[in-house]
Amino acid sequence: MSVGAGQGNVRCFRTAIAQRLGLQFDDARIGFLGTVLQRRLARLDMPAPHYLCALTAGMLPAEPAALAEELTVSETYFFRNSEQFRALVDIVAPARMRAAANNNRLTVLSAGCASGEEAYSLAIALHDAFPDPNGRVEIRAVDLNPAALARAARARYSPWALRETPADIRRRWFRPSGRELILAEPARALVHFENRNLARDDAALWQPQSFDVVFCRNVIMYFTPDQARALLARFARSLRPGGYLFLGYAETLRGLSDDFELQQSHETFYYRRKDDAPAAISLHREPPNAVAPPAAAPHSGRPDGDWMETIRGASDRVAALVAAMPVAGPSAPPATGHWDLAAALDLLRGERFSDALALVSRLPPASANDPDVLLLTATILAHGGQPVAAEETCRRLLSIAGLNAGAHYVLALCREAVGEAASAAEHDRIAIYLDGSFAMPRLHLGLLIRRSGDRDAARRELGQALVLLRREDPQRLSMFGGGFGRTGLISLCAAALRDSGGNQ
Ligand SMILES: C[S@@+](CC[C@H](N)C(=O)[O-])C[C@H]1O[C@@H](n2cnc3c(N)ncnc32)[C@H](O)[C@@H]1O
Repeated sequence: MSVGAGQGNVRCFRTAIAQRLGLQFDDARIGFLGTVLQRRLARLDMPAPHYLCALTAGMLPAEPAALAEELTVSETYFFRNSEQFRALVDIVAPARMRAAANNNRLTVLSAGCASGEEAYSLAIALHDAFPDPNGRVEIRAVDLNPAALARAARARYSPWALRETPADIRRRWFRPSGRELILAEPARALVHFENRNLARDDAALWQPQSFDVVFCRNVIMYFTPDQARALLARFARSLRPGGYLFLGYAETLRGLSDDFELQQSHETFYYRRKDDAPAAISLHREPPNAVAPPAAAPHSGRPDGDWMETIRGASDRVAALVAAMPVAGPSAPPATGHWDLAAALDLLRGERFSDALALVSRLPPASANDPDVLLLTATILAHGGQPVAAEETCRRLLSIAGLNAGAHYVLALCREAVGEAASAAEHDRIAIYLDGSFAMPRLHLGLLIRRSGDRDAARRELGQALVLLRREDPQRLSMFGGGFGRTGLISLCAAALRDSGGNQ
């Protein structure tokens, strides 16, 4: 019989998960962890103290995989962020194959491959780009979740998994079977799946200078800062000099690694291992209980150091903040979104703020809690010089739909308008976290950082903003562009980037 999962046990469970799997859970998810702990105790028929001791000491070798099935997010799909695959085949793979030591070969790691969509997309893209890749291209794909890996091995997918896959690739590479689509053998043959834990310094995986390219997308965003830092150091070590790293759009290297330099092409960004990154550091095992609490950001030494610290430390806190945000509860009205807002949007674009506001205020009372209406109202108020009223409206919207990137961006504008630059930056970061493709908070954050004097950090943000602005959704530009069109925003961003010492 197991002993119940009290608060102390659940916190100890959380620490053990950070150590063993790398995953971070904030206080808002303690209840969820308690439920999982109960289930594991019942399943193994162990009392909590025994289970927690054994888990922490690494004496339950099958447990990390079992926990991964309970705790990880395995959302993925084919050709996610397809521009990264274009950069891979046009620039990254040819450069690596040409590298003297490579002899026309390419080794790719898909780290956190989930059910295989990312690794198979790599295989398809490389097969199409380099005919007859067998023996030249190798893709290793690793994940800790055995259920996801079992799905990968079957290579049968629902049409939903191919929602971003171009029609001709679908036709050439997949064969329908009932409701599923089966991937063709030549792409499957390039990929080797392995059950591996990215939070471990596993000598069989992290051979020095063994990979040309690492795709690790939408994984470190779930890791504790220390575990993310350790994983990025392993990538630097196991990539060949000049090798490339692709992260997800909500992920950053800031404060986690200096071993890579940012690259931009194909309207996307990725990283190249610096030549002097520590490729040959010998493998080491981290001591048990190596997970320290998140380190404080280094002090900048500038008069506005507190401000900068707030910005630098923010990304660590954003995940916690986001998880704690309310999502639409049972009492929240449904997001109707069927009000005709086009005329008000036109007035906003033309900077006729009072007319736009008057139009919105004439909408039927039933629209009062509609998230789209609230967001538009807040945006009009913010651009029309009423930050306090705009902020109130945003907060109302967030109490209904907490995970609203637009509301956080508008809040950032409001906070800046009342002189709260640090809190403005924090809201920009939340908006970026919630929607990695949203250009405006990147631009705004870049401008805020530039004003603080940190040219390196400003350059990074503005460079990414420039890439995102070029492909930002036109509707979203009209809504949040503050009267600037795409061209105007791109010029503004490019000028700020130049001024920070960057090129475009
Ligand atoms: C959101 S999915 C990302 C899938 C894919 N990379 C993409 O971007 O579409 C995250 C994956 O990371 C895996 N993961 C999380 N922690 C891990 C760990 N410690 N070791 C190996 N895989 C892990 C999860 O099991 C999950 O399949």
